[in-house]
Amino acid sequence: MSPQDFFPAAAEWVGRLDDVFPGVWIKPYFAQWEVGHLLSMALLGGASILLNLRLIGYGLTDDPPSVVRRQVLPWLNLGVIGILFTGVLIGTSNPERLFTSEAFTAKMLGLAAALVLTYGVALPAAREDGRIRPMTAAFAALGLGLFGLALGVFATAQLVNPGLWHVVTAMGLMVLFVTRGLTRIVYGAGLAVLIASQLAVTQLLIPADDYARLDPTHKGFFLAFAAWILGAAAVQIISAGRGSAGGWAVKAMAYATLLVWVTTAAAGRWIAFA
Ligand code: HEM
Repeated sequence: MSPQDFFPAAAEWVGRLDDVFPGVWIKPYFAQWEVGHLLSMALLGGASILLNLRLIGYGLTDDPPSVVRRQVLPWLNLGVIGILFTGVLIGTSNPERLFTSEAFTAKMLGLAAALVLTYGVALPAAREDGRIRPMTAAFAALGLGLFGLALGVFATAQLVNPGLWHVVTAMGLMVLFVTRGLTRIVYGAGLAVLIASQLAVTQLLIPADDYARLDPTHKGFFLAFAAWILGAAAVQIISAGRGSAGGWAVKAMAYATLLVWVTTAAAGRWIAFA
């Protein structure tokens, strides 16, 4: 499901985009603009991590979420504006690749979900120090729906879906970072067992060229990792209690908001591999 499947009539217009301003100007400096794209991502990613970790109950816990929100908001906005601006420009200089890319569809759905979850849920919840108003809940439902669509397109896009390992890895590290005490030890041990088993089965037991067995085995491990990590996140969310940043729903939405940006970035990277 690439953009050309949805908008076939736009093919001719898209094909000419890199012959006219601004695409034709950007093209010789694609790499430089892409650096701007990635720096913007670092900025918005850092701001989003500080804000959402605070909602989860980790990081800048000396300040209430509303104060953390006020401090990170300008940087978050700058990162979002920067990534959209540079993204559109590099997009116009390389339009046909995006038009035929399923990863790009996943990325745009992820971006829509990320904007809804960030501006409609995480920021308002932080402003209210963890209180969720009915409007915020409505945005949460919309954002999660879009996130589900993005994951669905990512998971079914051939040659692109291995990019979902970035998403599961990011979630795995986030949970390792946030959990404490016995939960962290049990969770870390479970991860180590899964990693060792995957290496043993896919590197030692199954021959390297036996894709008919390797593919489903890797997919099975992917599901096992996802279940283990989500289970540990659920334990962390419930055992953390209400805390100073709201209850389980706010914490779960903060995890989702962080993860949706990772999904968008991973899909962005996998445009190149399709
Ligand atoms: C209007 C929105 C956006 C547009 C039009 C856009 C467009 C692009 C384009 C054209 C590329 C180069 C793809 C290639 O030729 O390989 C790219 C790469 C990338 N984008 Fe975006 N992007 C947008 C938003 C975002 C956002 C919100 C993120 C992160 C959250 C992001 C993260 C990335 C990453 C990680 C890469 C890969 C860079 C690399 O090759 O190493 N983009 N994007």
